[in-house]
Amino acid sequence: MEAMTLEENKPKGDDLQIDAVLRPGKWDEYIGQERIKANVRIMIEAAQKRGERPDHMLFYGPQGLGKTTIANLIAREMGAQMRTTSGVNMEKTGDLVSTLANLEEGDILFVDEAHRINRTIEEVLYPAMESRKLHMTIGKGPAARQLTLDLPAFTLIAATTRVNLLSAPLRSRFGAIFSMDYYEHAHIEEIIRRSARILGLDIEPIAVAAIAKASRFTPRTANRLLKRVRDFAQVKEMPVITEEAVLDTLELLEIDELGLEKWDRRLLESIITKFNGGPVGLNTLVAILGEDKGTVEEVYEPFLIKMGLLQKTSSGRTVTEEAYAHLNLKRFKVQ
Ligand code: ADE
Repeated sequence: MEAMTLEENKPKGDDLQIDAVLRPGKWDEYIGQERIKANVRIMIEAAQKRGERPDHMLFYGPQGLGKTTIANLIAREMGAQMRTTSGVNMEKTGDLVSTLANLEEGDILFVDEAHRINRTIEEVLYPAMESRKLHMTIGKGPAARQLTLDLPAFTLIAATTRVNLLSAPLRSRFGAIFSMDYYEHAHIEEIIRRSARILGLDIEPIAVAAIAKASRFTPRTANRLLKRVRDFAQVKEMPVITEEAVLDTLELLEIDELGLEKWDRRLLESIITKFNGGPVGLNTLVAILGEDKGTVEEVYEPFLIKMGLLQKTSSGRTVTEEAYAHLNLKRFKVQ
């Protein structure tokens, strides 16, 4: 085969296609989360040795850390077909019944946003998970009949950003529960270098570090920022991505050096200016911000807490001294 130049080797396509190209397709390409990888690989290998299917697994943690990617890798490792659905798509019991009824031997059923499954639908899931039975009601009223279907062996992989919203009976039916935490800085740098290599980008090490620092310890954010920096460099016709290109891109995007976006700063500033730093209750806070409660709890808060800028206390949310310093604001002292 003739060697390709870097230019010819570059993947073509829009942002979505690029996301697919950047997603690790093999275990060895998946960077970080070592403990989870080790545990999952043991579960898979043991099941394979026994000629069985691995137990049901639950992954929880903030958005963008690769829960779906891991599910895909598990399916690939097992040579299984992956069926994907989401708690959001399950409005009626029938939605889950038809998904389960269509499963084939050895399938992986991936259910994203599992906390959105309502209790009535969960009732269908329990016997399916426990004893591979699907209980269905055919017809309505006095003519209604109960029918039980045997399901093929399958593994349920559920993912959620809100594990405490999952009912205890549902949680207890998973054979393994994995908490996905934010990535280490060094792993985020490695992911950026890998993505830059795939995209055929020439990038300075210091520029990689600057993107990593603003990436919220999250691979999805890291790849998104890299794509924006790539756009910037393309428009400015820069052959090499420099630290300056990264900092200019971040400024344009209104992302600060800690990775805080406009709305993160607005949240902290609101607590400082309107509540003298807190504590303030979540309901009051979301009303002031005009934001969705779930978004505040799932997206903004976990990162601000991780950064030590916000604290959750029994009396509400409080910003820390670090938040005042970062935003260059002074605390109003009560005499
Ligand atoms: N892209 C997104 N997540 C990744 C990971 N954990 N490793 C490598 N590339 C990734």
